[in-house]
Amino acid sequence: MKRDLLTILDLSTEEIDALLRRADRLKKQWRQGTLRPTLAGKTLALLFDKPSTRTRVSFQVAMYQLGGQVVVLTAQETQLSRDESLADTARVLSRYLDGLVVRTFADARIEELARYAKIPVINGLTDLYHPCQVLSDLMTVREKKGDLTGLHVAWVGDGNNVAHSWINAAARLPIRLVLACPPGYEPRQEILERAQALAPYEIRLCRDPAEAVAGAHVINTDVWASMGQEQEREVRLKEFCGYQVDGSLLRRARPDAIVLHCLPAHRGEEISDEVMDGPNSAIFDQAENRLHFQRALLDWLLGGDGVRG
Ligand code: CP
Ligand code: NVA
Repeated sequence: MKRDLLTILDLSTEEIDALLRRADRLKKQWRQGTLRPTLAGKTLALLFDKPSTRTRVSFQVAMYQLGGQVVVLTAQETQLSRDESLADTARVLSRYLDGLVVRTFADARIEELARYAKIPVINGLTDLYHPCQVLSDLMTVREKKGDLTGLHVAWVGDGNNVAHSWINAAARLPIRLVLACPPGYEPRQEILERAQALAPYEIRLCRDPAEAVAGAHVINTDVWASMGQEQEREVRLKEFCGYQVDGSLLRRARPDAIVLHCLPAHRGEEISDEVMDGPNSAIFDQAENRLHFQRALLDWLLGGDGVRG
């Protein structure tokens, strides 16, 4: 039976752990030059309605490194732009492909594709979630901090798609998550409450970034206006005043705290140059791990035999 990854809640705690261990193992093989072509003969398509640098390139390269092929599409250049239904598109693409990564706006679109596709559908970012980002961020946190158990993760800024995926991660994993968001920019109530009901540790929302990061092991932030919200940018710049991750905020966290940002960043807005380029920043290692994580995800979902070894 095919598996999709639309949100982190599609995975059990054990599956997340196994996936992260597979990612570590394949990263080691990559370093040693011993990766095997476990996806030879398989083809992945990327169907993207929003721009992308990291997600697109890391999925492409991961697929190539495992011996597979990639087709890159935008909805605009397919018959979706001329009203072919998502259901029929999914039915047809399933006859050609072994997997589909979708980056789009409304989550209902990817849910519909997944419902009719006979192949795994992977969320490469939607308005509500960015699961592959946060799963690879967990890989980075484990590399830097060892065991995840009891880590205090802070989120500062918009309660957006990446924040929602951190909330879902905290529903499955033994981390404490404290989010500081300005009024009106909190995560969706239903996403928060569902995760709080499942979470082994605390998931808490507050207003004050200083409170969220006090004693934190990990500080996370993201842009104040996500893709699709460009027209709100000027208003948001004002509303998010005081939510920048800068040196003085960082000093409230543990001295060895790591700072994460999924990128692209707006330096001088949600994060200062000093923090982004400073010793606590794990941001470029984090970006690299997108590649290492995608490899493991594809190997698992598209049926490579990387499970061995
Ligand atoms: N972090 C991330 O998903 O980056 P891209 O938008 O460049 O894919
Ligand atoms: N929240 C951002 C993440 C970009 C990777 C957006 O959706 O634009």
